[in-house]
Order: sequence, then structure tokens, then C-alpha cells
Amino acid sequence: ERTPVAIVGAGPAGLLLSHLLAAAGIESIVVDSRSRSEIEQTIRAGILEQGTVEVLDAIPGSRARTVGQRHDGIELHFAGESHRVDFAELLGRSVWLYPQHEVLKDLIAARLDAGQDLRFGVTIDRLEDTDSNTPRLVGTDAEGATVNIVADFVVGADGSRSVVRPTITGPSSNNYFREYPFAWFGILCEAPPSSDELIYSNSPNGFALISQRSDAVQRMYFQCDPQTDVNAMSEAQLWDTLQARVPGTTLKEGPIFQRDVLRFRSFVAHELRRGRTALVGDAAHTVPPTGAKGMNLAVADVLLLNQALQALLLRGDERPLDAYAETALKRIWKAQHFSWWMTNMLHLSPEASDFDRLRQLGELRSVVDSEAGQRYLAEAYTGWPLATSL
Ligand code: DHB
Repeated sequence: ERTPVAIVGAGPAGLLLSHLLAAAGIESIVVDSRSRSEIEQTIRAGILEQGTVEVLDAIPGSRARTVGQRHDGIELHFAGESHRVDFAELLGRSVWLYPQHEVLKDLIAARLDAGQDLRFGVTIDRLEDTDSNTPRLVGTDAEGATVNIVADFVVGADGSRSVVRPTITGPSSNNYFREYPFAWFGILCEAPPSSDELIYSNSPNGFALISQRSDAVQRMYFQCDPQTDVNAMSEAQLWDTLQARVPGTTLKEGPIFQRDVLRFRSFVAHELRRGRTALVGDAAHTVPPTGAKGMNLAVADVLLLNQALQALLLRGDERPLDAYAETALKRIWKAQHFSWWMTNMLHLSPEASDFDRLRQLGELRSVVDSEAGQRYLAEAYTGWPLATSL
């Protein structure tokens, strides 16, 4: 089979890219090893930058703006105090709370309506001819039949365990990587919201984040040991742990119907592009979840690669593609820094001394006491301007 663009991965990055390419008249094939229901049901992030919502507005049937909830700020809790960072007042910008799996339902429905060649249950086994102008994907479909797709360009939008990545980066030891000595314990519960806005809390017992999903379902996280057994604690213990970490706020409790442990890592691939292959989203980089940059960063990569592929395939101009990695990496490293900074400012490190603890409170106070400090946080959280040209 032959296609202009073969996209591995039907997550936010791959689906959005196929939409943008189609809008420019460029066809693509999107494959994913998972089933549609697995993609639509996996619980992931929740916060969309304003620019991400503006991009999604162009997708027929997108509910990000209508069903998603606008948040004009966040609460930072520390030292028994509560401080609001007001994005709308500081910048006239906001974020939207709209779960990633809902974004995916919208994108999948819109792509299928538009006639997109979108194949679930297709595993890519290897890439061939990657030094030619016609790279090839070889894989296996859900029925066990061989899949063989020759493309003018292959995009790895296949997440942190990308099969496309090794072709581009070589051995994984070349990549930039950092681990953290903690993880998040995430819950979904049936309860009304405990707060109108997200609460990011630095407490003597460790970090907690009070987020939401709807009027009836809430999402909350607390810092835990990476080895934590997800089933070791009773519901009462989970509530006690969460409640102890948000002094001054009374959590509204309800049945906990989902629990998961999220690993914390920072990762950037050494190369984002080689010849006629490129990486976007989590295949190219991973951020720890504090600050909610992951999906938004994927969208920013896709906007750039979309421009580069349009130039290449419609005009034979390779210059934007040659600039893709360098341009994308500027935002990627800013987001890496912001995610690392929010993480370190808010979490209790197992090795922290009294000095480290008090310095951390000094850091938080430097942010909330300064309009410039708050503004930096607000700019990063609501999203830096998206590139309009390469
Ligand atoms: C959520 C996740 C985040 O990492 C974050 O910073 C804010 C919200 C969420 O899942 O709701």
C-alpha cells in the first residue's frame, strides 16, 4: 500500500496530525496497536491549554469548549495558606478541564466521519528503507495478516514506548532522561467537587492535587512511593491520606471506582527527525504530570510538523522540515523545565533536609508574593504562544 503520510499512533498527536493534513488535502493512514475502546477508555490527563482548545475548535463536533470547563486560575496551597493564581486577570487567558479520553472520542469520531483510513489493532513490527524517500512500515493487523505501508513520510506518534523512535535516535542511551523518587496515586471517585478550581498542595505529608472531571466525578492525586501497591490501601485510608494533605479544605468523599499509580519521568529524545521520519508527542518526550503539559506539548509538536509536511509534500520545500527539531525543542525544553520546576517546588523529596523544606516554602512564597512570579507560572500553565510559521 502507498500513502503520502503514515502515522503510527492514534493518540491526540497522530489523530490531530491526520486532521490537519487532510484539511490541506494530504491523505494519511493512521495505525494503532490498541483497540478503539482501549484508546477511548484509558484515563489520562485533564487540562487543555487555551491554544489547544483553539486548535480543537476547528474539529467538527469537538466538545472541548462546550462540555469542557473553563478554569481561570489555580489554587496553590502551602504552609497552611491558600493562594490563587488568577490566569484571567494576569494574562486574559484560561485553561479548560476536558479529559484526554474525551478529546480522543471527539477526534476519532471526526476522523472516521471524514473517511480517514484509521486502523486499530495494527502492530508495527519494523521500519524499512528509512534512508530512502519512501520509508516503509511492516506490521501485523488484528487478524494476523501482514501490513505493508510505503509512505513519503512516516510519523512516530506512538507514545513513550515508541517503535518508530529507535530508527531516529539510535540506541536509547543517547536520550535525555531523568527519574524522580516519587509517583502519583490517582483516584476517580463519585462525589461532588471539593473545590471550584484545581488545588496544588505542598504539605508536610507530601503533595496532593485536587482536580475534577464533572459535577459527579472527581479526580485526585497524592504523592506516593513509586513501588506503591495500588490495592494496598482501603478507601478510608485513601481519603485520610488525601485529606491530611489539603489542610484547610474539607474534601467531599464518595466511592472510589478507579485507582492508578503514575510514574514520574522526564525524557527527551536525542533526535526528533531523520530523513523522512519524525517523532511527535510522547514518542519524542515525556514530562512528569505536575503542570499538565504532556498532551498540550504534543499538540504544539503537531502544529509544527503539519507545516513542515505541507511544505515538503505540496511545495517540495524541505526547509521547514529541516527546522522542525530545533524549533520544537525550544518549547519542549521550556515545558521540561516548567514540569520539573512545578514538581520539585510542590513535592516532598524523601531526601529533603529541613533546609530543603524551608527553601521550598521560600520558593513558593517568591512566586505568590510577586506578580512577575505568578505571571511566569500563568504563562507556562496556560501555554506559551503556538508557532504560526516555521
Ligand atoms: C490533572 C492532571 C495534571 O497532571 C494536572 O497538572 C492537573 C490536572 C488531571 O488529571 O485532572
